[in-house]
Amino acid sequence: MPGVEFDAATRTWLLSTPDTGYALRLGDDGMLRHLYWGPRLTLAQASTVPAPRPATMTQFEGQVYDIEEFPVEGGARFGVPALQVRFADGTRGLELAFAGQQRNADTLSIRLVDRHYPFEVGLHYRVYPDSDVIERWTSLANTGDVPVEVLRADSATWPVPARADYVVRHVTGHWGGESQVERVDLARGETVLTSRRGTTGHHANPWFTIDAGDASEEHGEVFSGALAWSGTWRITLSRTPTDVVSVTGGAGHEGVSWRLAPSERRGTAVFAGLYSTGGYGATSRVWHRYVRGHVLPHPRELRPVTYNSWEATGFTVDEPGQRRLAAQAAELGAELFVMDDGWFGARVDDRAGLGDWTVNRNRFPNGLAPLAAEVHRLGMRFGIWVEPEMVNPDSDLYRARPDWVLHMRNRRRTELRHQLVLNFARPDVAEWAHGWLDELVGGNDVDFLKWDMNRPFTEAGWPDGGEDPDRLWVRYVENLYAVLDRLRADHPHLRIQTCSGGGGRVDLGILRRTDEVWPSDNTDARDRLSIQHGYGQIYPTVTMAAWVTDVPNFLTGRAVPLRFRFHVAMAGVLAIGGNLPEWTDEERAEARRLVAQYKRIRPVVQHGDVHRLLPPSDGLSATQYVAVDGAESVVFFWLPAPRFGREAAPGRLRGLDAAARYRDEATGEVQHGAVLLGHGLRPQLPSGDYASAVVHLVRVV
Ligand code: GLA
Repeated sequence: MPGVEFDAATRTWLLSTPDTGYALRLGDDGMLRHLYWGPRLTLAQASTVPAPRPATMTQFEGQVYDIEEFPVEGGARFGVPALQVRFADGTRGLELAFAGQQRNADTLSIRLVDRHYPFEVGLHYRVYPDSDVIERWTSLANTGDVPVEVLRADSATWPVPARADYVVRHVTGHWGGESQVERVDLARGETVLTSRRGTTGHHANPWFTIDAGDASEEHGEVFSGALAWSGTWRITLSRTPTDVVSVTGGAGHEGVSWRLAPSERRGTAVFAGLYSTGGYGATSRVWHRYVRGHVLPHPRELRPVTYNSWEATGFTVDEPGQRRLAAQAAELGAELFVMDDGWFGARVDDRAGLGDWTVNRNRFPNGLAPLAAEVHRLGMRFGIWVEPEMVNPDSDLYRARPDWVLHMRNRRRTELRHQLVLNFARPDVAEWAHGWLDELVGGNDVDFLKWDMNRPFTEAGWPDGGEDPDRLWVRYVENLYAVLDRLRADHPHLRIQTCSGGGGRVDLGILRRTDEVWPSDNTDARDRLSIQHGYGQIYPTVTMAAWVTDVPNFLTGRAVPLRFRFHVAMAGVLAIGGNLPEWTDEERAEARRLVAQYKRIRPVVQHGDVHRLLPPSDGLSATQYVAVDGAESVVFFWLPAPRFGREAAPGRLRGLDAAARYRDEATGEVQHGAVLLGHGLRPQLPSGDYASAVVHLVRVV
């Protein structure tokens, strides 16, 4: 049974998940050491795992050449500290001693106290009966009567057991090109993945995998972790000169410190970890099931086929235009209609109006209610774009409340996209945002918010905010979470998309309170293949919104056939974002057919297990989805640039029952599972560039 056990004789804790075990031990020297992370062990077996080497090898190595469970600053430790504090008298670092534990079936808390100062640290763990993901977080308590300065407080340090070598995978990117997978040798030294932007960021995402260099998509041991935090963050992967590897991570970037007030207790965000033996593919599938089962608020729902007006109209939204789009979207089979930017204040371009969340009466003379009613009459849900954390200096809000933005004395207010960031750390700002959002949603029958955030922080200060200025970075995110949580609680039907200029705020923290993600503003179907490939390494398909938009694409100028654009978007949560009045009758007919097909395959695509058969390239790439009960499977094939004489090899399928037979829903042809697995499936692709196909297989009983 998965759970938490303790062997008193050896003072060994064992956390068990369905397939893995994780053990730590309290040594005779009082040090809490990581012992084991790998395939499952019994408690009796775990208690015989030899303790790591004793402390202090030579005076130059220091204490930690074996792996401590949570290496704080203090003593002869010279690695990356997971926790750094300074006490009021100037003393830095901690001398922690074990002070007790609390265990139940699936959680463990270990209490450590400083030998001198009134300060406590809690190490917390949670396992689930149906997931190999282990959640870890830390809590800090100031039990004294003077503040303690916290210079760094990570959520967890994940030790990576000794292997022959170490290869790390993570994503990098930029606006319009998020989630590009990097696979590199882990350098001896420290590799820092971080965001200093106020949000999770386009440029990195808080997850990693480490393997011995021998893992592949299908095979091999993989250690991975993902942080549940939507503000700035830092994950440091450390490989010592003697090849001891560990990964420590948590909220906040370097140079930021905050105070823990007397009697204050604080928990950190979760930094979840996973050990898998099935290669990168199985690692992703476990993360996906974990996010669906334990993170998302409504994991069992099917996401609707969506229409979004942004690429069709830009800022030029008005009631007649939106009604026309809504009618055409409904005709294609859309189930959710989302009006994007431009409906409020003086927002006719990106220079003005952000912050003034009253309907533009020139564009919507009778408010939003008539459009919402029309969208509902057409059988769709009504969604709307908001950017609650922002203000244009050219707005009534900013003229009235210039002190509400992040700013510092004697510093300029740097504008990006002509906007400034509202200080969500301020309770009055958060309250104001909640107030108008609550009214917008409640007063207009809004079913869906696209919650955007279109610039990073600069001059992140709050001159009148008191004596703990950097606390702002944390409070901002906490208040953002609180507004989202409150809105959801008061409007249980409301669904929310997280967007930050595309994929700038994607993490396990925001996914606890949103339903889907806009992974990138780049809707070019070819670029999207690698963005979706990277996104799906951790985050499940049911969260991955994907639009079919017009060509030539506004970013790349590339023209890709409608079918290929659909087939790429149908591998996620399908949406349409084209200017429908300009579509031909043939395009409309093809779109109707593909939307209908998507609705048939959607349960498998959105809730199934994903197998990345062939990664994105100029040649053939393929992704397969298998229903959790194994009854159906859907395979997408994409071939951007065929080469004459180089016919693609058949894609060998995964996750099927070799003894079963499967019917191709389009052709009626029945094939053996063993053949599909062993030999593969050769798709019927049209000739020419950007060929694509989707095959829907149903198990024959
Ligand atoms: C961001 C979003 C886009 C769109 C615009 C509107 O860039 O990512 O999808 O909503 O803002 O201004």
